[in-house]
Amino acid sequence: MSLKGKDIISALQFTREEVEYLFRLAEKLRKEIDEKGILDYAKGKIMVTAFFEPSTRTKLSFQFAMKRLGGEVIDFEVTTSSLAKGETDIDTLRIIDGYNPDVIVLRQKKPHFPEQIAPMIKAPIINGGDGWNEHPTQALLDVYTIWREFGYVDGLTIGIMGDLKYGRTPSSLSYLLSKFKDITIYYIAPQPLQIRDEVVEKIEGKVTYYKVEKLEEVIDKLDVLYVTRLQKERLPDPSMYEKLKGIYKVDLQVLAKAKKIPVIMHPLPRTWELDVSVDNLRQARYFEQAQNGMYIRAALLKEVLGV
Ligand code: NCD
Repeated sequence: MSLKGKDIISALQFTREEVEYLFRLAEKLRKEIDEKGILDYAKGKIMVTAFFEPSTRTKLSFQFAMKRLGGEVIDFEVTTSSLAKGETDIDTLRIIDGYNPDVIVLRQKKPHFPEQIAPMIKAPIINGGDGWNEHPTQALLDVYTIWREFGYVDGLTIGIMGDLKYGRTPSSLSYLLSKFKDITIYYIAPQPLQIRDEVVEKIEGKVTYYKVEKLEEVIDKLDVLYVTRLQKERLPDPSMYEKLKGIYKVDLQVLAKAKKIPVIMHPLPRTWELDVSVDNLRQARYFEQAQNGMYIRAALLKEVLGV
Protein backbone atom coordinates (compact mmCIF):
# COMPACT_ATOMS: atom_id res chain seq x y z
CA MET A 1 0.00 0.00 0.00
CA SER A 2 1.24 3.49 -0.65
CA LEU A 3 -0.48 6.65 0.43
CA LYS A 4 2.84 8.48 0.29
CA GLY A 5 2.41 12.03 -0.99
CA LYS A 6 -1.30 11.48 -1.74
CA ASP A 7 -4.06 13.99 -1.06
CA ILE A 8 -6.72 12.57 1.27
CA ILE A 9 -9.94 14.09 0.00
CA SER A 10 -12.76 11.53 0.28
CA ALA A 11 -13.54 8.38 2.24
CA LEU A 12 -14.40 6.82 -1.13
CA GLN A 13 -10.77 6.90 -2.24
CA PHE A 14 -9.58 4.22 0.20
CA THR A 15 -9.49 0.51 -0.56
CA ARG A 16 -10.54 -1.92 2.13
CA GLU A 17 -6.93 -3.14 2.34
CA GLU A 18 -5.70 0.40 3.00
CA VAL A 19 -8.30 0.91 5.71
CA GLU A 20 -7.44 -2.34 7.46
CA TYR A 21 -3.74 -1.59 7.13
CA LEU A 22 -4.31 1.79 8.82
CA PHE A 23 -6.28 0.14 11.65
CA ARG A 24 -3.43 -2.29 12.35
CA LEU A 25 -0.86 0.49 12.13
CA ALA A 26 -2.91 2.60 14.57
CA GLU A 27 -2.86 -0.32 17.03
CA LYS A 28 0.91 -0.63 16.67
CA LEU A 29 1.47 3.13 17.10
CA ARG A 30 -0.84 3.12 20.14
CA LYS A 31 1.44 0.60 21.85
CA GLU A 32 4.60 2.48 20.89
CA ILE A 33 3.18 5.84 21.99
CA ASP A 34 1.97 4.36 25.29
CA GLU A 35 5.47 3.02 25.89
CA LYS A 36 7.63 5.88 24.68
CA GLY A 37 5.43 9.00 24.58
CA ILE A 38 7.19 10.60 21.62
CA LEU A 39 8.40 8.55 18.63
CA ASP A 40 10.77 9.65 15.89
CA TYR A 41 9.15 8.57 12.62
CA ALA A 42 8.31 12.12 11.55
CA LYS A 43 11.50 13.79 12.78
CA GLY A 44 12.27 16.79 10.59
CA LYS A 45 8.81 16.88 9.00
CA ILE A 46 6.37 19.77 9.32
CA MET A 47 2.57 19.64 9.33
CA VAL A 48 0.44 22.78 8.98
CA THR A 49 -3.11 22.84 10.30
CA ALA A 50 -5.17 25.38 8.33
CA PHE A 51 -8.68 25.43 9.75
CA PHE A 52 -11.03 28.04 8.29
CA GLU A 53 -13.91 26.65 10.38
CA PRO A 54 -13.99 25.96 14.14
CA SER A 55 -12.62 22.66 15.43
CA THR A 56 -11.58 21.03 18.67
CA ARG A 57 -11.02 17.33 18.09
CA THR A 58 -9.89 17.23 14.48
CA LYS A 59 -7.26 19.93 14.84
CA LEU A 60 -6.02 18.87 18.27
CA SER A 61 -5.83 15.17 17.44
CA PHE A 62 -3.87 15.88 14.25
CA GLN A 63 -1.52 18.14 16.20
CA PHE A 64 -1.06 15.58 18.97
CA ALA A 65 -0.59 12.82 16.41
CA MET A 66 2.17 14.73 14.58
CA LYS A 67 3.95 15.60 17.84
CA ARG A 68 3.71 11.97 18.99
CA LEU A 69 5.31 10.92 15.70
CA GLY A 70 8.18 13.29 16.46
CA GLY A 71 7.24 15.91 13.86
CA GLU A 72 6.70 19.65 14.01
CA VAL A 73 3.35 21.44 13.95
CA ILE A 74 2.52 24.91 12.70
CA ASP A 75 -0.99 26.18 13.18
CA PHE A 76 -2.35 28.81 10.84
CA GLU A 77 -4.29 31.22 13.06
CA VAL A 78 -7.37 32.28 11.15
CA THR A 79 -8.46 35.06 13.49
CA THR A 80 -5.15 36.94 13.56
CA SER A 81 -4.23 36.38 9.88
CA SER A 82 -4.59 38.53 6.78
CA LEU A 83 -7.92 36.87 6.08
CA ALA A 84 -9.12 39.75 8.24
CA LYS A 85 -7.68 42.09 5.57
CA GLY A 86 -9.62 40.30 2.86
CA GLU A 87 -7.02 37.80 1.64
CA THR A 88 -8.63 34.74 0.03
CA ASP A 89 -8.28 31.17 1.30
CA ILE A 90 -6.63 30.21 -1.98
CA ASP A 91 -3.92 32.86 -1.69
CA THR A 92 -3.42 31.96 1.96
CA LEU A 93 -2.87 28.29 1.11
CA ARG A 94 -0.46 29.13 -1.70
CA ILE A 95 1.58 31.18 0.74
CA ILE A 96 1.60 28.36 3.30
CA ASP A 97 2.62 25.89 0.57
CA GLY A 98 5.46 28.18 -0.47
CA TYR A 99 7.14 27.58 2.89
CA ASN A 100 7.31 23.88 1.94
CA PRO A 101 5.38 22.03 4.65
CA ASP A 102 5.33 18.22 4.35
CA VAL A 103 1.56 18.02 4.78
CA ILE A 104 -1.38 20.41 5.20
CA VAL A 105 -4.54 19.50 7.10
CA LEU A 106 -7.32 21.71 5.82
CA ARG A 107 -10.82 22.48 7.05
CA GLN A 108 -12.99 24.75 4.94
CA LYS A 109 -16.64 25.62 4.78
CA LYS A 110 -16.97 25.37 0.98
CA PRO A 111 -17.93 21.82 -0.06
CA HIS A 112 -15.37 20.32 -2.49
CA PHE A 113 -12.80 23.05 -1.81
CA PRO A 114 -9.98 20.55 -0.97
CA GLU A 115 -10.20 18.77 -4.33
CA GLN A 116 -10.25 22.12 -6.15
CA ILE A 117 -7.21 23.50 -4.38
CA ALA A 118 -5.15 20.28 -4.21
CA PRO A 119 -3.76 20.48 -7.79
CA MET A 120 -2.39 23.97 -7.03
CA ILE A 121 -0.64 22.89 -3.85
CA LYS A 122 2.61 20.86 -3.72
CA ALA A 123 2.14 19.48 -0.20
CA PRO A 124 -0.34 16.65 0.29
CA ILE A 125 -3.68 17.99 1.50
CA ILE A 126 -5.69 16.09 4.11
CA ASN A 127 -9.34 17.07 4.15
CA GLY A 128 -10.33 17.85 7.75
CA GLY A 129 -13.92 18.60 6.73
CA ASP A 130 -15.33 20.52 3.75
CA GLY A 131 -18.68 22.07 4.60
CA TRP A 132 -21.51 19.57 4.49
CA ASN A 133 -19.66 17.35 2.04
CA GLU A 134 -17.13 15.05 3.69
CA HIS A 135 -14.92 14.36 6.67
CA PRO A 136 -12.85 11.33 5.61
CA THR A 137 -10.56 11.13 8.66
CA GLN A 138 -13.59 11.21 10.97
CA ALA A 139 -14.90 8.19 9.06
CA LEU A 140 -11.55 6.45 9.60
CA LEU A 141 -11.76 6.96 13.35
CA ASP A 142 -15.43 5.99 13.40
CA VAL A 143 -14.92 2.68 11.61
CA TYR A 144 -11.68 2.11 13.57
CA THR A 145 -13.73 2.44 16.77
CA ILE A 146 -16.31 -0.05 15.46
CA TRP A 147 -13.56 -2.47 14.40
CA ARG A 148 -11.92 -2.27 17.85
CA GLU A 149 -15.26 -2.81 19.55
CA PHE A 150 -16.38 -5.87 17.57
CA GLY A 151 -13.12 -7.14 16.13
CA TYR A 152 -14.65 -6.95 12.63
CA VAL A 153 -16.88 -4.69 10.53
CA ASP A 154 -18.48 -7.08 7.99
CA GLY A 155 -22.09 -7.98 8.69
CA LEU A 156 -22.82 -5.16 11.15
CA THR A 157 -25.97 -3.04 11.25
CA ILE A 158 -25.43 0.63 11.92
CA GLY A 159 -28.03 3.30 12.63
CA ILE A 160 -26.92 6.81 11.64
CA MET A 161 -29.19 9.31 13.28
CA GLY A 162 -29.72 13.05 13.31
CA ASP A 163 -28.81 15.71 10.79
CA LEU A 164 -27.82 13.53 7.85
CA LYS A 165 -28.45 16.23 5.29
CA TYR A 166 -26.21 19.07 6.47
CA GLY A 167 -23.70 16.89 8.34
CA ARG A 168 -20.50 15.67 6.69
CA THR A 169 -19.80 12.75 9.02
CA PRO A 170 -22.80 10.62 7.88
CA SER A 171 -21.68 10.80 4.24
CA SER A 172 -18.05 9.89 4.86
CA LEU A 173 -19.06 7.16 7.33
CA SER A 174 -21.42 5.65 4.73
CA TYR A 175 -18.67 5.72 2.08
CA LEU A 176 -16.15 4.01 4.32
CA LEU A 177 -18.63 1.37 5.50
CA SER A 178 -19.40 0.61 1.85
CA LYS A 179 -15.89 -0.86 1.57
CA PHE A 180 -16.96 -3.72 3.87
CA LYS A 181 -19.29 -6.70 3.28
CA ASP A 182 -22.93 -7.22 4.28
CA ILE A 183 -23.35 -3.83 5.93
CA THR A 184 -26.84 -2.57 6.74
CA ILE A 185 -27.38 1.13 7.43
CA TYR A 186 -30.54 2.63 8.88
CA TYR A 187 -30.69 6.38 8.24
CA ILE A 188 -32.78 7.69 11.12
CA ALA A 189 -33.94 11.28 10.66
CA PRO A 190 -36.97 13.49 10.25
CA GLN A 191 -37.73 14.09 6.57
CA PRO A 192 -36.06 17.54 6.22
CA LEU A 193 -32.80 16.12 7.59
CA GLN A 194 -32.68 12.82 5.68
CA ILE A 195 -29.52 11.66 3.91
CA ARG A 196 -28.70 13.37 0.59
CA ASP A 197 -29.44 11.44 -2.63
CA GLU A 198 -25.90 11.97 -3.85
CA VAL A 199 -24.66 9.99 -0.83
CA VAL A 200 -26.87 6.94 -1.23
CA GLU A 201 -26.20 6.91 -4.99
CA LYS A 202 -22.54 6.32 -4.22
CA ILE A 203 -23.18 3.32 -1.96
CA GLU A 204 -26.02 1.82 -4.02
CA GLY A 205 -25.53 -1.93 -4.44
CA LYS A 206 -22.71 -2.03 -1.89
CA VAL A 207 -24.70 -1.47 1.31
CA THR A 208 -28.28 -2.37 2.25
CA TYR A 209 -29.89 0.80 3.52
CA TYR A 210 -33.24 2.03 4.78
CA LYS A 211 -34.52 5.50 5.63
CA VAL A 212 -36.68 5.70 8.75
CA GLU A 213 -38.03 8.53 10.87
CA LYS A 214 -37.96 7.13 14.37
CA LEU A 215 -35.31 5.34 16.39
CA GLU A 216 -37.91 3.15 18.14
CA GLU A 217 -38.72 1.46 14.80
CA VAL A 218 -35.22 0.02 14.43
CA ILE A 219 -33.29 0.19 17.69
CA ASP A 220 -33.53 -3.55 18.32
CA LYS A 221 -31.79 -4.28 15.02
CA LEU A 222 -28.76 -2.09 15.63
CA ASP A 223 -25.23 -3.10 16.58
CA VAL A 224 -24.18 0.56 16.58
CA LEU A 225 -26.14 3.78 16.97
CA TYR A 226 -24.23 6.78 15.59
CA VAL A 227 -25.82 10.05 16.70
CA THR A 228 -25.12 13.47 15.15
CA ARG A 229 -26.04 17.04 16.09
CA LEU A 230 -28.24 19.39 14.12
CA GLN A 231 -25.79 21.49 12.06
CA LYS A 232 -27.17 24.85 13.13
CA GLU A 233 -24.52 26.84 11.24
CA ARG A 234 -25.35 25.14 7.93
CA LEU A 235 -29.14 25.36 7.93
CA PRO A 236 -30.45 27.57 5.13
CA ASP A 237 -32.60 29.59 7.53
CA PRO A 238 -32.44 30.14 11.31
CA SER A 239 -36.16 29.45 11.86
CA MET A 240 -35.45 25.89 10.72
CA TYR A 241 -33.26 25.37 13.77
CA GLU A 242 -36.01 26.53 16.12
CA LYS A 243 -38.47 24.19 14.41
CA LEU A 244 -36.23 21.13 14.46
CA LYS A 245 -34.49 21.68 17.80
CA GLY A 246 -35.05 18.72 20.12
CA ILE A 247 -36.91 16.70 17.48
CA TYR A 248 -34.69 13.67 18.11
CA LYS A 249 -32.90 12.69 21.28
CA VAL A 250 -31.12 9.75 22.82
CA ASP A 251 -31.39 9.44 26.59
CA LEU A 252 -31.77 6.63 29.13
CA GLN A 253 -35.54 6.62 28.74
CA VAL A 254 -35.35 6.01 24.99
CA LEU A 255 -32.67 3.35 25.41
CA ALA A 256 -34.58 1.57 28.17
CA LYS A 257 -37.13 0.51 25.55
CA ALA A 258 -34.54 -1.44 23.57
CA LYS A 259 -34.12 -5.19 23.97
CA LYS A 260 -30.37 -4.70 23.66
CA ILE A 261 -28.63 -1.33 23.86
CA PRO A 262 -26.34 -0.83 20.85
CA VAL A 263 -22.85 0.66 21.00
CA ILE A 264 -23.41 4.40 21.07
CA MET A 265 -21.18 6.72 19.07
CA HIS A 266 -21.16 10.45 18.27
CA PRO A 267 -18.52 12.49 16.42
CA LEU A 268 -19.02 15.31 18.97
CA PRO A 269 -19.62 18.14 19.76
CA ARG A 270 -23.01 17.19 21.14
CA THR A 271 -25.82 19.58 21.91
CA TRP A 272 -29.28 18.37 23.05
CA GLU A 273 -29.47 15.16 20.98
CA LEU A 274 -27.36 12.98 23.29
CA ASP A 275 -28.10 13.26 26.98
CA VAL A 276 -25.28 13.13 29.52
CA SER A 277 -27.26 10.42 31.35
CA VAL A 278 -26.06 8.02 28.63
CA ASP A 279 -22.37 8.65 29.41
CA ASN A 280 -22.11 6.04 32.16
CA LEU A 281 -23.43 3.16 30.07
CA ARG A 282 -20.78 0.67 29.05
CA GLN A 283 -22.09 1.01 25.48
CA ALA A 284 -21.23 4.74 25.36
CA ARG A 285 -18.09 5.01 23.25
CA TYR A 286 -17.91 8.64 22.10
CA PHE A 287 -15.05 9.78 24.33
CA GLU A 288 -13.04 6.73 23.42
CA GLN A 289 -13.96 7.39 19.77
CA ALA A 290 -12.46 10.89 20.00
CA GLN A 291 -9.32 9.43 21.58
CA ASN A 292 -9.03 6.84 18.80
CA GLY A 293 -8.85 9.79 16.41
CA MET A 294 -5.33 10.58 17.50
CA TYR A 295 -4.01 7.07 16.79
CA ILE A 296 -5.66 6.62 13.42
CA ARG A 297 -4.54 10.12 12.34
CA ALA A 298 -1.00 9.25 13.44
CA ALA A 299 -1.22 6.15 11.23
CA LEU A 300 -2.51 8.20 8.30
CA LEU A 301 0.16 10.90 8.72
CA LYS A 302 2.89 8.26 8.87
CA GLU A 303 1.69 6.79 5.57
CA VAL A 304 1.11 10.10 3.78
CA LEU A 305 4.55 11.34 4.88
CA GLY A 306 6.04 8.00 3.84
CA VAL A 307 8.08 7.69 7.03
C1 NCD B 1 -17.83 16.93 13.32
C2 NCD B 1 -17.56 17.87 12.16
O1 NCD B 1 -16.76 18.81 12.29
O2 NCD B 1 -18.12 17.61 11.12
N1 NCD B 1 -16.98 17.18 14.40
C3 NCD B 1 -15.78 16.53 14.44
O3 NCD B 1 -14.94 16.68 13.59
N2 NCD B 1 -15.60 15.66 15.44
C4 NCD B 1 -19.25 16.87 13.72
C5 NCD B 1 -20.00 18.13 13.97
O4 NCD B 1 -19.46 19.24 13.94
O5 NCD B 1 -21.20 17.99 14.24
